[in-house]
Amino acid sequence: MSKETTYVMVKPDGVQRGLVGEIIRRFEQKGLQLVGLKQTIPSEEIAKKHYDVHSDKPFFSGLIKFITSGPVICMAWSGTDAISVSRNLIGPTNGRDAGPGTIRGDFGMDIGFNMIHGSDAAETAQFELGLWFPEGLNEWTQDSLSWVYE
Ligand code: RTP
Ligand code: MG
Repeated sequence: MSKETTYVMVKPDGVQRGLVGEIIRRFEQKGLQLVGLKQTIPSEEIAKKHYDVHSDKPFFSGLIKFITSGPVICMAWSGTDAISVSRNLIGPTNGRDAGPGTIRGDFGMDIGFNMIHGSDAAETAQFELGLWFPEGLNEWTQDSLSWVYE
């Protein structure tokens, strides 16, 4: 158990479909704390850095084209085990395999159009937060969380 901050991003399909509010609601209600939020249209440069681990995959160029196709919502969420908690809220990569109750399970039917990204480990979270939030994050006390965390 450790306090973590993770990078979460609503992808262009999630923004186009008007799912931003629904997605933020789920993270807030779970008990994660929002410490960074903005909308941006990713440059090819930042998209390629973000997905560099997939640069030799056959889907890479399509993935970059998709991620740079329109606005995304960049978010930083903090909390105990925030990385795995967020991945559980998001669900498996392919919406058809994702269980009900997860974001991809409830709203998705495909692997590319899977609406949302979440960092998969502590090192990737640190890298992605630095990449998308070079200006830094906000440190603040959310009083309601004293009734979420014992
Ligand atoms: P993400 O990084 O976006 O949070 O998703 P993930 O960990 O669940 O999946 P990952 O394996 O890291 O793949 C990154 C994104 O690439 C797209 N993808 N397309 N066409 C394909 O076979 C394929 N495989 C992956 C997805 O948009 C996936 O989220
Ligand atoms: Mg991934």
